[in-house]
Amino acid sequence: MAVKKNVKIKKQANLEVVKPIKTKPYNDIDLNNWKLYENVKTGTWWEFDKREKSNGHSYDYHGNYIPQIATQLFERYTKKGDVVLDLFFGSGTSGIEAKNMKRRCIGVELKQEMVDYVSKKFSPKELVVDVNIIQGDSASSAAKEKIQNRLEIMGEKSAQFLILHPPYDDIIKFSDKKEDLSNCATTEEFYDLFKKVAKNGYDLLEQNRFAALIIGDKYANSRYISLGFECQRRMEELGFVTKAVIVKNIVGNEKAKGKTANLWRYRALSGGFNIFEHEYIMIFQKTKLKKVKNKEI
Ligand SMILES: C[S@@+](CC[C@H](N)C(=O)[O-])C[C@H]1O[C@@H](n2cnc3c(N)ncnc32)[C@H](O)[C@@H]1O
Repeated sequence: MAVKKNVKIKKQANLEVVKPIKTKPYNDIDLNNWKLYENVKTGTWWEFDKREKSNGHSYDYHGNYIPQIATQLFERYTKKGDVVLDLFFGSGTSGIEAKNMKRRCIGVELKQEMVDYVSKKFSPKELVVDVNIIQGDSASSAAKEKIQNRLEIMGEKSAQFLILHPPYDDIIKFSDKKEDLSNCATTEEFYDLFKKVAKNGYDLLEQNRFAALIIGDKYANSRYISLGFECQRRMEELGFVTKAVIVKNIVGNEKAKGKTANLWRYRALSGGFNIFEHEYIMIFQKTKLKKVKNKEI
């Protein structure tokens, strides 16, 4: 009898040690084991030693973002199988990382030659099941309709995460097309087009899910232009709630700056401005603000 009692106690003790998995509806992070996720960044300053160039990634497109951004964002704001919508797909960094992390992706890119080039990075089966690539103008209703069709084929009504990595106005000119956000006559026009793309993204995103805007600022006519905060304001006007503004160190992530570093330093010293060493990763949620005593919090 005494032996049986001991076994029972031991079993109970084992049961107490095993905690159930506790996750939020928008990621797979087990909050009962939160200390295991040391790799997940929760601060507002991000720095990566060097660009990830394995697992399908390469620095083959001037203006592509470093893959570690996608890794961090997908772990934090998506679950396995979720659909990531990237409305400025470029060289397909989001699609490659989505596949690596067992997420799915729909990417829209204006330049047909980029769509053709990026499509070769995936197998024909992957292009149907995992990564859908659409050539189009992300600000248009035609692109929105195509995305809705692809979502339907993937068995979804809406996307579970939105990535916006637009041109930083005219800093890098991607094409001569009039729909290209890098080819706007004025910065105001850039903001207007950005807002149209973001509106499509908002409409296609599932309620309570997250969006990320990756953007840098610029100098023009001897003054600082806050592209990031202007675009953030437009995201808020559409109904997005800002959750975080992350500053990411870009030193060492970009091409060729080293060679012209002295020139930029001279220009900075003589022009009274500072050399850009950062860009922003802004996090938004499509959610309603809670009202407390008639005040929004
Ligand atoms: C900063 S790059 C994005 C790079 C991408 N995140 C990557 O990692 O390769 C911006 C991209 O947006 C595209 N683009 C510009 N205007 C667009 C529009 N109206 N609709 C869709 N894509 C557009 C450009 O051709 C360019 O490839």
